[in-house]
Amino acid sequence: MRVVNIGICGLGTVGSGVYNVISRNLAAINARANCEIKIAQIGCRRDNPDCALSTTPVTRDIFEVAKNPDINVVVELIGGTTTAYKLVMTALENGKHVVTANKALIAEHGMEIFSEAESRGLMVCYEAAVAGGIPIIKSLREGLSANRVNWLAGIINGTTNFILSEMDTKGRNFNDVLIEAQEKGYAEADPTFDVEGIDASHKLAILASIAFSTPLSLKGLFTEGITKLQPQDVAYARELGYAIKHLGIARQTENGVELRVHPTLVPQRSLIAGVNDVLNAVMVNADAVGTTLFYGPGAGSEPTASSVIADIVDVARNMDSYPDTWVPALGCKLTALKEQPLLGIEEVETGFYIRFSALDKPGVLSNVTKIMADAGISIESIIQRDQPAGESYVNVIILTNVTKEKCLDEAVEHIEQLETVRGPVNFIRVEYLDQA
Ligand code: HSE
Repeated sequence: MRVVNIGICGLGTVGSGVYNVISRNLAAINARANCEIKIAQIGCRRDNPDCALSTTPVTRDIFEVAKNPDINVVVELIGGTTTAYKLVMTALENGKHVVTANKALIAEHGMEIFSEAESRGLMVCYEAAVAGGIPIIKSLREGLSANRVNWLAGIINGTTNFILSEMDTKGRNFNDVLIEAQEKGYAEADPTFDVEGIDASHKLAILASIAFSTPLSLKGLFTEGITKLQPQDVAYARELGYAIKHLGIARQTENGVELRVHPTLVPQRSLIAGVNDVLNAVMVNADAVGTTLFYGPGAGSEPTASSVIADIVDVARNMDSYPDTWVPALGCKLTALKEQPLLGIEEVETGFYIRFSALDKPGVLSNVTKIMADAGISIESIIQRDQPAGESYVNVIILTNVTKEKCLDEAVEHIEQLETVRGPVNFIRVEYLDQA
């Protein structure tokens, strides 16, 4: 049987998962790959107690793996974009195929890496970079290749979904849940990547590039995390029949593409509202198929390993065939990708949830609704809730119909100037996810 030698760089949460799943399921994996997959070397700074390495040679120098003449496939699982970039380029220069779970690396340097790989007749696979164990890259590039994608929207960060779900269903405190997410191995090395939406923006950039056949780019991608969300918004949203999810949304419009990551109210009846815990889900709306939903674990050791190993199997199956028969990294040849204008967030149309504190006296709401009407915004519902005892102010919560964000900005500016309104006007975008 043909032997394909793998070198794993990084033995953290994902690396140990890859080692353990390959060891456990080796016979089935080999049968599917039609070869003998052998972990020939591991490069890691330190051993991992979750992983009982048997006779596999270990080096503390990951570049030794990238240059090892016996190795066919380098699996980059160290994360980050500096050393990981050098490692991947070194592996390619040394004629190795690459498998990586590194979304930051692909989002920031993907074009250069893919171009290098294409020119050398090598594969770079990255299924685990987006939505952990969900085979969304394969689904978009292969399963949906007949379609024009209208939009996609997804929960693509497990850590933020875990935090929001725990806050919503158990009333837990943000920081406590984040610590638990770190302990469970969901969060990035720097968890601000998760909670500030950076990790989701990397993943969205990758999905959008495949969906719309555009070059990979993070430039201008609107990114807002969950750190400014107030527990009261989660509760009010629930009262109004919505859940708050942190979504990545990419939409093809007549004037270009929208790319945005932000907390979003979604109706509780929508499928995505029921996606809790560390689970991810990506909805794709496309012209031929309609709407599809891809759902599963978005982070964690073995779910992510599942995607990494699927890539290893893909490489092992295809490495002896002619490169033109391989599935291209971004779904089509790099030369076939076309730039598109990116819409500014002010041009994007969504519904809005608005919350502010206003004096509890006659006429206050009519001033607010007049401002909204003048800005061309139609109100869907409005509620008023008491603030703590003794306060003469109340919380006003408004849901608007779909409107351009620049109209909302104009209205917010005027509402904040009203003497009867105290403090800032907070807003969260609303999506219905059932419109083409
Ligand atoms: N930190 C990431 C998440 C890991 O929480 O989704 C998977 O990419």
